[in-house]
Amino acid sequence: MAKKVTVKTIQKIKDSGEKFSVLTAYDYSTAKYIDEAGVDIVLIGDSLAMVALGYDTTHYVGVDEMRIFTKAVARGVNHAMVVTDMPFMSYNLSVEEALKNTSDMIRAGADAVKIEGANEYILNVIKRCVQSGIPVMGHLGFTPQFLNTIGGYNIQGKSFEATLEILAQAQELEKAGVFSIVLEMIPEESAQYISAHLRVPTISCGAGRYCTAQVLVSDDVFGKYSEFKPKFARKYGDMKSLIFDCAKKFNDDVKSGAFPSDDEVFKLSEEELKQLKLHEGSIKC
Ligand code: KIV
Repeated sequence: MAKKVTVKTIQKIKDSGEKFSVLTAYDYSTAKYIDEAGVDIVLIGDSLAMVALGYDTTHYVGVDEMRIFTKAVARGVNHAMVVTDMPFMSYNLSVEEALKNTSDMIRAGADAVKIEGANEYILNVIKRCVQSGIPVMGHLGFTPQFLNTIGGYNIQGKSFEATLEILAQAQELEKAGVFSIVLEMIPEESAQYISAHLRVPTISCGAGRYCTAQVLVSDDVFGKYSEFKPKFARKYGDMKSLIFDCAKKFNDDVKSGAFPSDDEVFKLSEEELKQLKLHEGSIKC
């Protein structure tokens, strides 16, 4: 069996100039198949608020939901590293609360957590997590939990100055101890420049081809989530049609009587059936 992916594996991949892959998962069976397919990191992204729970932003999930989804995913994964996204406001009130909530995710089965941003307070939270044995993945560029302050789904790092600003934040994250950094929705030249000046691997989420890794939301990859498809996502299948076709055929078969068939039912033994028929004959209406 393949060895478990750890922070050490991830750094080795970066140092050898190879690539690694990251996909989100929110349930046991999806996580199991993603893991069996050889994906290196399974991320329980707070994107689950949108793609699994139907909200229109990621703001609506909290620690309780992330704990449940983390447990489900962790039960399905043997090889990949399991990373849980810390949800909106779960690490912003105090360092103590951040430590409580991040350690809860580790107890639920995560190997690491992901935290958005790099202001002074966040850097301190990350330092304290790492000092406590909780590996942290950083997240810069477009950070969905800051959607309302950013003012929309806008590409970040579009100028020379903005690129240097993200690089400075990334270097602070590296100093604070993150083992990798997601760069979301920034031009690929900016991501390339930033990545070249870091020791830890960068993970592109719409940040082009020059990061060590690529991450996508699995519902986009499977063609399951159809409300919105980001420019940078690639659809590898059509799960929406598959689900629709299966549900439609089931509905038709139930209504026509074609389901269940003789092979799909349990039967009484000959002896029990005989007794039942005799009993029926003895009942007077
Ligand atoms: O929530 C999420 O799924 C994410 C990734 C797409 C990076 O943060």
